[in-house]
Amino acid sequence: MRTQVGIIGAGPAGLLLSHLLTLRGIDSLVVEDRSRSYCEARQRAGLLEDGTVKLLREADLAQRLDAEGLEHGGIYLQFAGERHHLDFRDLTGGRTVTIYAQTEIVKDLIARRLADGGALEFEVADTAVAGLDTDRPVLSYTAAGGERREVACDAIAGCDGFHGISRPAIPAGLLRVWDRAYPYAWLGITAEVPPSTDELIYDRHPEGFALHTMRTPQVSRLYLQVRPDERIEEWPDDRIWAAFQRRLALPGWELKEGPIFDRAITPMRSFVSSPMRYGRLFLAGDAAHIVPPTGAKGLNLAMADVTVLADALEALLRGDSRPADGYSDACLGRVWRATHFSWWMTTMLHVAPDADPMTEELQLSQLRYVTSSRAAATSLAENYTGYPPLR
Ligand code: APR
Ligand code: PHB
Repeated sequence: MRTQVGIIGAGPAGLLLSHLLTLRGIDSLVVEDRSRSYCEARQRAGLLEDGTVKLLREADLAQRLDAEGLEHGGIYLQFAGERHHLDFRDLTGGRTVTIYAQTEIVKDLIARRLADGGALEFEVADTAVAGLDTDRPVLSYTAAGGERREVACDAIAGCDGFHGISRPAIPAGLLRVWDRAYPYAWLGITAEVPPSTDELIYDRHPEGFALHTMRTPQVSRLYLQVRPDERIEEWPDDRIWAAFQRRLALPGWELKEGPIFDRAITPMRSFVSSPMRYGRLFLAGDAAHIVPPTGAKGLNLAMADVTVLADALEALLRGDSRPADGYSDACLGRVWRATHFSWWMTTMLHVAPDADPMTEELQLSQLRYVTSSRAAATSLAENYTGYPPLR
C-alpha cells in the first residue's frame, strides 16, 4: 500500500493535518487505535484562540463553530474575595476567544474527512514505524479486520498524543526532554445547568483553584483543584458542588447547580521534547509537548503545529526540504511561550501542598498587579487570546 503522508492518531492534530493536506492536493492515511465513538466522546478542553478560529474558517471548517461557538471578550480573575474583569477586546485591540469543545471539533473533522473521501481507519492495533531515516518510511498496523498492513509513505506525522509510539520511535539520545509534574490535578465536571457567569471565572482560593467555564448556554463545565492521587469515587456530587460553592462564593452572586453527567480527574504537567522531527517522522501536538490546562493552550498548540507542518510537507514533497528543516524551530518558539504562560497561570492560581505564607502573598501580589496595571493585564490578554497565526 502507498500514501503520501501516513498520519498516526485521529485527535485534533492528525485530523486537521489530513484535511489541510487534502486542500493542498496531498493524500494521506490516518490510523487511530480507538473507535470513532470513543474519539468523539473524549472530554477535553474547549477554548479556541482568536488565530485558531481564523485558521478553521480559512480551512472551511467553521460552519458549526460559527453557529454554536460562544465568543468571549474577557475573563474574570477572582482572589481574596474579589472578582475582577479583564476586557480582552479593549486590551488587545479587538481579540477574543471562543468556547467550542474539542469533542465538537473532532466530530466536525471526522465528518469532513469522511465526506471528502479521506482514508481514516479506526480501531487499528500495533502501529509501528520503520525506515524513518530514508525517503520511504513505512507505517504498519493491524487493521480492525485483523490483517497486517504496510504502507509506504513519503513522510509520517506522529499525531498520537503523549502516550503514542511516535516519540519513542526516535533513537534514544537524539531527543532533549523537559518535564515537570505539578503537585495537583483537576477534577473536571460537565453539568446540565446554564452557566452562572457570562465569562470564565479563574479563581484562587485558600482551599485551591476553581474554574467556571461552559459548553453551551444550557451546559456548564467546571474544574476544581484536587490532589493528584485523589480517586473520583471520593467525590460524590454533593461534595463537588459544596467545594465549588465555597471556592467561587461572592456576595450577591449565585452558583447554580445541576445534574453532573461527566466527571474525570486529569493530572497536570509541562513537557517539551525537541526536536519535533527525526528524518521523515514529524511530531505534532501532544506527541511533542504537554501544557497544564490553565489557559487552555494544548489544543491551540496542536493546531498551530499542523498548520506549519502542512506547508512544510507540501514543500518537502515538491523537493524543497527547507521548511521541513525549519519545522521544529518554527513550532518550538510558540510552544515555549505557551509553556511559560500555562506554567505562570497555573502557579499564580493553584495552592501547592507545601506552599508557605510567603508564596501566598506573592501570588496575591501578582494577581493584584494583573488586575490593576494595564501593562500587566495586556500581557495576560495577549498570551491568553493567542499569538499571530503562523501563516
Ligand atoms: N496508534 C494509533 N493511534 C494512536 C496511538 C497508536 N499507537 N497512540 C495514540 N493514538 C491516538 C489516540 O487514541 C488519540 O486519538 O492518537 C490520538 C492523539 O490525540 P490527542 O491526544 O487528542 O492529541 P492531539 O491531536 O495532539 O491534540 C492535542 O488534545 O490532549 C489534548 O489538551 C490536549 O487539547 C490538546 C489536544
Ligand atoms: C474549558 O472550557 O474546558 C477550559 C477553558 C479554559 C481553560 C481550561 C479549560 O483554561
